[in-house]
Amino acid sequence: MATPITGETKVAPGGKTPPGPRGGMLLGSVRDFRRDSLGFLADVARRYGDVTRYRMANMTWYQVNHPEGVRRILQQNNHNYGKGTLTKRVIGPISGEGLFTSEGETWLRQRRLMQPVFHRQRVAAFGELMTGATLAMLDRWEPLVDAGTSIDLPAEMALLTLDIATETLFSSHVGEEPDVIARAVTTLISDVSFRFEVPYYPPVRVPTPYNRRVRSALRTLDRAVYRIIEERRRVRGGGGDLLALLMDARDEETGEAMGDKQLRDEVITLFIAGHETTANALAWTFYLLARNPEAEHRLQAELASALGTNGSTRPPAVADLPQLPYTRMVVEETMRLYPPAWITNRQAHADDEILGYHIPAGAFVMISPYVLHRHPAYWKLPEKFDPERFSPEHPEDRPRYAYFPFGGGPRQCIGKDMALVEARLILATVAGRYRLRLVHDRPVEPEALATLRPHGGLPMIPEGV
Ligand code: HEM
Repeated sequence: MATPITGETKVAPGGKTPPGPRGGMLLGSVRDFRRDSLGFLADVARRYGDVTRYRMANMTWYQVNHPEGVRRILQQNNHNYGKGTLTKRVIGPISGEGLFTSEGETWLRQRRLMQPVFHRQRVAAFGELMTGATLAMLDRWEPLVDAGTSIDLPAEMALLTLDIATETLFSSHVGEEPDVIARAVTTLISDVSFRFEVPYYPPVRVPTPYNRRVRSALRTLDRAVYRIIEERRRVRGGGGDLLALLMDARDEETGEAMGDKQLRDEVITLFIAGHETTANALAWTFYLLARNPEAEHRLQAELASALGTNGSTRPPAVADLPQLPYTRMVVEETMRLYPPAWITNRQAHADDEILGYHIPAGAFVMISPYVLHRHPAYWKLPEKFDPERFSPEHPEDRPRYAYFPFGGGPRQCIGKDMALVEARLILATVAGRYRLRLVHDRPVEPEALATLRPHGGLPMIPEGV
């Protein structure tokens, strides 16, 4: 990418000014970023180093490419780095004051309230449901398998994780609302991707034909979510699903429960944050296994040894997961190469200094797991798929923030355990029955939208193991 260096390392109060590409006169680096976001971020890190700076239209982005810098932003000095206007503009109109977008006291209260709901033991209770939904998908595949027809893997994974998200949130609700919600959420997730791609599109409140459709999906969603909440309040109880747990949650200090609007915001946040991320992690997992027969073979051997009876493999339960270390290593290595949340941004409240560079108040700070996960200073042969890097017996020596697919610090993903349980159970259930073969031999490029997905889909053919 031929972008001239601004190059200067002027000393500003509290550190030097970071170097970076100059970009175009009007839009700065917007065009380069939009053409190939991942390539641009990696290129900036390679050319300009640990702390970089460039213009994106009327914003200045500070891209930090060093684990210690990431630690400073997410952990050590996290109070100085808020979610900022960029995140709020894209996701705020959908998720309101939900956990992903809220800040300060509201965020802290909600995080305390919700943390126990996502405790490992609670999450384990959803295991059977996750495996069950996967088996139902495999049954649906059967006629296709017999006919040798391909499936669109990312679409299948998206349907499956949406199904699981719906069930974990509203298992006990009968009626059409869960389906209505699932459909509206799909529309809104593609809206998040759209606004990421076209950041200058008028905000939802401006009544363009497209925005009207988004607003209609939002209204549908609201109506359906509020109807479920109202019904739950009328008929107390409601099983052990996430909504019931959220409704039962009480603030430790005040004893208060969540109101309807807050419940609505959290339910929608969990839907949005939780399902496409996991779906894409799984799609990449099957892609990488198909391209790496040795790893696939080891995975099959582990499944046969831990779950095999009489020549076939039974579906896994949560209790089996400790006996499936390689399955976990495969998932972790996949999320190294293809972290679903490929970029995180913050906005600085006050001036700061990172690794000797000045970060002014108001700066947009970008950190990219995609860049750090493939950084040659922290990974040997970074482009190679090698689950051994995550072997519990030979842990590689690397800084904590060379790998952070779930973020870190106080705002680390609250659904991390749930996602890891879900991804391993789905992987073990599918791989116990099928090997997925690629229809095309060519490498698939990642498409960096709201999450990192395989560009142009990923047709695969299931073959019995
Ligand atoms: C492979 C799957 C997933 C990945 C890669 C992922 C990634 C992330 C990352 C990187 C963050 C931090 C964002 C930031 O610092 O700005 C985050 C936050 C969050 N995630 Fe996940 N996530 C996944 C699955 C889930 C699931 C299954 C749920 C819930 C059911 C969930 C709910 C959330 C919520 C509510 C937050 C906001 C937490 C807060 O700010 O306190 N995620 N996720």
